[in-house]
Amino acid sequence: MNNTFAKDIIKGLTADQKHLSSKYFYDDNGSRIFQEIMNMPEYYLTDSEFEILSLQAKQIYEALNFSQPFNIIELGAGDGFKTYKLLEHLQQSNVDFNYIPIDISKEAIDFLIKNLNDRLPGLKIKPKVGDYFEILKNEKQSSIPSLLLFLGSNIGNYNESEAIDLLQLFNQNMKRGDKLLIGVDLKKNPLTIRQAYFDPKGITKRFNMNLLIRINREFDADFKIDDFDFYCQYDAVSGEVKSYLISLKSQTVHLKKLDRVIRFEQNELIWTELSKKYTPIEIESLAQTTGFKVNHHFLDCKHYFADSLWEK
Ligand code: AVI
Repeated sequence: MNNTFAKDIIKGLTADQKHLSSKYFYDDNGSRIFQEIMNMPEYYLTDSEFEILSLQAKQIYEALNFSQPFNIIELGAGDGFKTYKLLEHLQQSNVDFNYIPIDISKEAIDFLIKNLNDRLPGLKIKPKVGDYFEILKNEKQSSIPSLLLFLGSNIGNYNESEAIDLLQLFNQNMKRGDKLLIGVDLKKNPLTIRQAYFDPKGITKRFNMNLLIRINREFDADFKIDDFDFYCQYDAVSGEVKSYLISLKSQTVHLKKLDRVIRFEQNELIWTELSKKYTPIEIESLAQTTGFKVNHHFLDCKHYFADSLWEK
């Protein structure tokens, strides 16, 4: 049994405001549903970032101002789809670099290697499966400059203090002059944001519900999926999308492997995810708090998304 997951579930489901962390969304099935989300027309984040990395690859490379060779270390590379255009541009321009994708999922890394080997033969890939920080610490020993990629608005899933801790950890594991390209979803028309998370086909609802299915499977629990629904709300002032599961009736759920019974009131909420949106000024303040200097914000043509280049 996964111990941290078990502890987090008990802590979250026995709190006054019940909560479960979205980091547990990504079992194999959850990862597949996330792929479906990224393909939805309403989920503008993927296309916006793809546009930035496709159309502004040259400008991004020039802004790095690196001597060659250098390393590109991608944290949470997933299927590598977003990064492909940037890598393609560098390879076509005969830039000397190593691409070091890091992901916790071996399945994702194997897929990415196969894909890149087919599409960009000759690319120097040094994939790593495992924990970001252990791997980053070793990279620091190398004298080669590094560009860290933390794309896809992953930073949005951390609350303010967690985001600061995470970015400070990145900073501590970087050398002076190293760069971080961080993907951040921008505040925009609230209706556009709401549609991306409260999607008409209910794919995001399935993504959230899958967490209950995962808990049923891994902890021999008896969540009845039809007795829960999904709700999400965007607060245009704070920039926070908060997602919840709703208990549709008063009920108890038995988590047999954890020897726990959890009571739910009718309409009680489980908070499952935060997806925070920023303004460029808020991005700058986050960079400053965590020891970085902002070099440039690369925006898509609709100004929906920023890939912001920071320097240590
Ligand atoms: C991975 N992360 C940045 C996504 C987001 O937008 O917060 C996860 C997601 N949740 C619902 N839709 C997509």
